[in-house]
Amino acid sequence: MSTLTLTGITKRYGSVAAVDNVSLKVEHGTRTAVVGPSGSGKTTLLRLIAGFEPPEAGCIAIDGEVVADQGVIVPAHRRSVGVVSQHGALFPHLTVAGNIGFGMGRRAKDRDRRIAELLDAVELPQAMGGRKPRDLSGGEQQRVALARAAAPDAARRALLFPRHFPAGGDAGDGRARPGRCGHHHRPGDP
Ligand SMILES: Nc1ncnc2c1ncn2[C@@H]1O[C@H](COP(=O)(O)OP(=O)(O)O)[C@@H](O)[C@H]1O
Ligand SMILES: [Mg+2]
Repeated sequence: MSTLTLTGITKRYGSVAAVDNVSLKVEHGTRTAVVGPSGSGKTTLLRLIAGFEPPEAGCIAIDGEVVADQGVIVPAHRRSVGVVSQHGALFPHLTVAGNIGFGMGRRAKDRDRRIAELLDAVELPQAMGGRKPRDLSGGEQQRVALARAAAPDAARRALLFPRHFPAGGDAGDGRARPGRCGHHHRPGDP
């Protein structure tokens, strides 16, 4: 079953078609990279999937549930889609455990157990839970950001990673090409 399906998605800002009639299928358990030059609509596409904006046209379905369509717009917090922000954006005053547990609420049942599981899942030592982000390497901070994005809902259906790459890899026609480049699927991936 396909986890994520976009059909004819279009988003305009004034006269600019940031995303123009994009269709895309992301199968369960796979990773898809959306690659294109600056301004080609990559971030807009992720924002539409996350539910931060509604598309003008087209349909988005996750696990067979329509989350955006004519007359249908499921808000971001009901989509079970996590977004790992570009720079990690951890709360500097909170510990690693505090960052990961931020979206769970203070009294969430099994909070400590979930935090421990998420530290394991991103392969960070449990002892790191008590440290502040400034005492972590860049890569460790990214793992914490990943754990935090996955945390609020045990059944996250998709994780989105907006990223900037160094200039030089211009894709040519100025439009993002979902699913064309860097589509990886390793057998056995969860
Ligand atoms: N909130 C906005 N208001 C107006 N124009 C926007 C807005 N967000 C993005 N755009 C425009 O939409 C196009 C795509 O932007 P974006 O999705 O950020 O591209 P990318 O992430 O590929 O660099 C650009 O021309 C950008 O200027
Ligand atoms: Mg962008």
